[in-house]
Amino acid sequence: MPLDPSAVRAHFPSLSVRDDGKQRIYFDNPGGTQVPLRVIDRTVEYFTRHNANSGGPFRTSVDTDRLLDEAHRAMADLLGAAGPEEIVFGQNMTTLTFAVSRALGRGFRRGDRILVTRMDHDANVSPWLLLARDLGLEVDFLPFSTETFRYELDRLDSLVTGRTVLAAVNYASNALGTINDVAAITRAVHAVNGLVYVDAVQYVPHAPTDVKALGCDFLACSAYKFFGPHQGILWGRRHLLETIDAYKVRPASDELPHRHETGTLSHEGIAGTLGAVEYLEELGRAAVPGVTERREALTAAMDAIVRYEQGLCAHLLSGLESVPGLRIFGITDRSRLHERVPTVVFRIDGADPADVNRRLAHAGIHAWDGNYYALEVTKTLGFEGSGGLNRVGLAHYNTVQEIDRLVEVLSEPGSRV
Ligand SMILES: Cc1ncc(COP(=O)(O)O)c(C=O)c1O
Repeated sequence: MPLDPSAVRAHFPSLSVRDDGKQRIYFDNPGGTQVPLRVIDRTVEYFTRHNANSGGPFRTSVDTDRLLDEAHRAMADLLGAAGPEEIVFGQNMTTLTFAVSRALGRGFRRGDRILVTRMDHDANVSPWLLLARDLGLEVDFLPFSTETFRYELDRLDSLVTGRTVLAAVNYASNALGTINDVAAITRAVHAVNGLVYVDAVQYVPHAPTDVKALGCDFLACSAYKFFGPHQGILWGRRHLLETIDAYKVRPASDELPHRHETGTLSHEGIAGTLGAVEYLEELGRAAVPGVTERREALTAAMDAIVRYEQGLCAHLLSGLESVPGLRIFGITDRSRLHERVPTVVFRIDGADPADVNRRLAHAGIHAWDGNYYALEVTKTLGFEGSGGLNRVGLAHYNTVQEIDRLVEVLSEPGSRV
């Protein structure tokens, strides 16, 4: 059953907020999504009824442990993990990546090589660059084509060598929107016994994630990009999480996943994350009545989201292409929309992206300009230092009417300076 936008939108209270009578249009989704009632309810319920530290015999602490366990299970289902012990909660994707890179680095030797890419958000570049600096590792960069907006995978043969110990790649770009062939990269890196660390922050909100099918070793994401609270999540292969030397305090449990979950977690954030997965599960059960398992329902939800968002993305691309002087950087071929998420970056000839974005903000349209930390992307495209790019990112609660309003505002003569 296709997604019904008005039924979807009814779950999200913030979608009906008006400012000075003006309806808000949220196209800032790659920076952070809105949350459904289920997330708000889970968070309020946690504070109202279960708030405590974990590990005690009293009611609120027992409740907290139960909730943490349930949230690990829910995330394992969302990502297709083998079990809840493979799920690690942490402050955000960046902090988790710094922590894991440090722990992994204990096994790397001077002269080992790390592969990073020119398409990644800096959260999956700088932790590895700094590790390389500290340990005397060599760094290689996988470029992307400015014609196809895809990784230059034919470069892998020369870039992946017997000294490559890890590749850090992104599943979907937070700038170009490209969905990358992570499975192919993983095969190449595994062939030389290297590890693969995947940034899936921008993929998880848009399509079914299956870590087993990808074959990678680590995959990180952030709940606030998939309709949850500000919360980071890391999946890792069980034997790796068990064997890498985690930075942890002595009294903390050495069991999985706790050995990687340093300090007291954001229980309320994890409660909200559970709410986000429950929301998606509900969406999936409505899309495909009769599904039994949660993983099945989540896959059904994400499949329905893919179908709906591809339609929206085609509409957005057509609308943007009709704006005079506007140039899109990313896949625009309508037969290849399955190779991208609906995040679209562009420049308007003669216009400063910050000015364009202020005009959008004035019209109640929430969007971003700049580099959004995809520093290597704006550098490669030659826009770093000149305002970067405008970015509009859709979610499954956006509508055709909202896109039409965006195009109308962008087409007003004042959009060009
Ligand atoms: C692709 C990508 N990776 C990583 C991050 C950083 O995530 P976090 O804020 O959870 O550290 C972002 C945030 O925008 C992102 O878009």
